Amino acid sequence: MLHRVAVTRSTNDDLRALALDGAPHGTAILADTQTGGRGRLGRRWDSPPGANVLLSVLVRQPIPPSRLALVTLGAAVATATTCGPAYRIKWPNDVLASDGRKVAGILAEAEWTNGVPSFVVVGIGVNVAVAPPLPTATCLDADGTVHDRDTVADGVIRGVLLWSESLVDDPRPVLDAWRARSATIGARVRVNDVEGVALDLGDDGGLLVRTDDGQVHRVLAGDVAMVG
Ligand code: BTN
Repeated sequence: MLHRVAVTRSTNDDLRALALDGAPHGTAILADTQTGGRGRLGRRWDSPPGANVLLSVLVRQPIPPSRLALVTLGAAVATATTCGPAYRIKWPNDVLASDGRKVAGILAEAEWTNGVPSFVVVGIGVNVAVAPPLPTATCLDADGTVHDRDTVADGVIRGVLLWSESLVDDPRPVLDAWRARSATIGARVRVNDVEGVALDLGDDGGLLVRTDDGQVHRVLAGDVAMVG
C-alpha cells in the first residue's frame, strides 16, 4: 500500500512508525516535501516541494542477517534500472548519470529485535525535476525529457520489493545485478583511508580494494571518491 503525504520530517521515520505498528511488507510512503530528510553518514537530504521522489519502502522478509547489507544494493539496482540503461551505481548505492553526477541516493535502516532483524526501511531519494545546487548533482529531467514522478516511484517500489525478496533464497542475483551496473569496480578509488583499485564486491556487499602494495582490503562503509 502506498501512502502519500504532502509534508513530513522524514518518510523513513514515518514508515518506521508504521512498521512498529505492524504495517506489512511492501508498505510505502511518498512525500512531496521533507523538512528533515536524512542522507547517509549523517548528512541532510534536501529537495524542493513536489519536484522529486522522496520515498520509503518497507521490507519485511526473512533475509539472513549476513545478507542485510545487500538490501541497500538491491535498492540501488532497482533505482538505477528505473532511471534508465545509462545510469550506474557508485558503491554502495549512489545512482549516477552517465556524466558521473549523482541523481539518487538510498538510506536503508534496519530494525533489530532481540538480535534478529525484524524489518528494513529503505529510503530512496531521486532527483526527478530538480537537482540540489551542487556541481556533483543532477536530475533525470536534465536529459531534456520530462519524467513522471509517480512512474519513477512505482518502478522503484516494484524493484526494491523484487530484489529484496530474491535475497531470502539467494544473494547472487542482487550481487550480479549490482556488478553489472557498477561505476566503481575496476576504477581507482579512495574510500576512508584506503586507496587502490576496486576489485569486486564481497558476498556481504563490502567493497574489495587492492592497494598498491598488493593487499586486498574489505571496506564495509564509507564514501568512495574516484581518483586518478
Ligand atoms: C544518500 O544518498 O545520502 C541517501 C539519501 C536518502 C534520501 C531519502 S529521501 C526519502 C527517505 N527519507 C529520508 O529522510 N531519507 C530518505
